[in-house]
Amino acid sequence: MNITGNTILITGGGTGIGKGLAEALHAKGNRVIVAGRRAEPLQAVARHNAGIATATVDMADPASIAALAASVVAEHPTLNVVIHNAGIMVPEQLAGDAYDTADAEAMIATNLLGPIRLTAALLPHLKGRPHASIVTVSSGLAFVPLAATPTYNATKAAIHSWSQSLRTQLADTAIDVVEIVPPAVATDLLPGHAENPQSMPLQAYIDEVMTLIEANPAAHEICVERVGLLRDAERKGTYDEVFAMLNQPH
Ligand SMILES: NC(=O)c1ccc[n+]([C@@H]2O[C@H](COP(=O)([O-])OP(=O)(O)OC[C@H]3O[C@@H](n4cnc5c(N)ncnc54)[C@H](OP(=O)(O)O)[C@@H]3O)[C@@H](O)[C@H]2O)c1
Repeated sequence: MNITGNTILITGGGTGIGKGLAEALHAKGNRVIVAGRRAEPLQAVARHNAGIATATVDMADPASIAALAASVVAEHPTLNVVIHNAGIMVPEQLAGDAYDTADAEAMIATNLLGPIRLTAALLPHLKGRPHASIVTVSSGLAFVPLAATPTYNATKAAIHSWSQSLRTQLADTAIDVVEIVPPAVATDLLPGHAENPQSMPLQAYIDEVMTLIEANPAAHEICVERVGLLRDAERKGTYDEVFAMLNQPH
């Protein structure tokens, strides 16, 4: 993915990592559209960054995704990049008396089906662009699971797998597929996550991501140094040790 000169749709662009990417990419000379459910945070991003456009969408709703794709393509015909950043993370207790699967279903709809549906809706348009990128956002937890968030980890592992297949199937097109693999980053994804000293400061994370994209526009994965512990555990033979460390009993 080129760091400049694109028209980029960022889902979940009103807060956290999506907002950070939106502002950094806007500053680098890209046209940016931020999308999410709540209009207020999106409008705040637009107010502070003249030229950023906004759109509302519920990424768990197929009709809303279809409407977003149609309106963004109509209003921004130069669209050539989508960053599938919107996501939710909800801890689940599987060992209790009743396991209510509502949270699991919402995470699968938002984190997995959302990017799949939006990609399907945008592919006909992206195929007509001279250069395009589909950017997914997985997680270090795609590679070593945190037992407290089973379905979340699973959606991110699925996004990693799906990104690889998509990249291979699009190899003969002008569309590249990039997977951003964040470590724990200080955002409001989970209550207390932004204050957790283990979380990487958001701006430092965004700066490192931008440096990596700029240094290697052909990169398949954007892995900051901090995520290496999880991302590389299997290939380094440290998986069991890292799994035990991540899932220490309290
Ligand atoms: N922070 C971390 O430690 C970390 C680590 C690994 C991966 N990630 C991934 O990074 C991405 C961004 O998360 P974040 O940490 O920046 O947390 P965040 O600030 O909570 O951002 C999530 C964004 O997704 C949007 N969103 C959630 N559900 C949506 C839906 N149904 N439709 C449309 N938008 C929706 C939210 O906006 P609305 O509520 O207004 O819709 C919000 O702007 C997520 O995919 C997350 O899994 C984060």
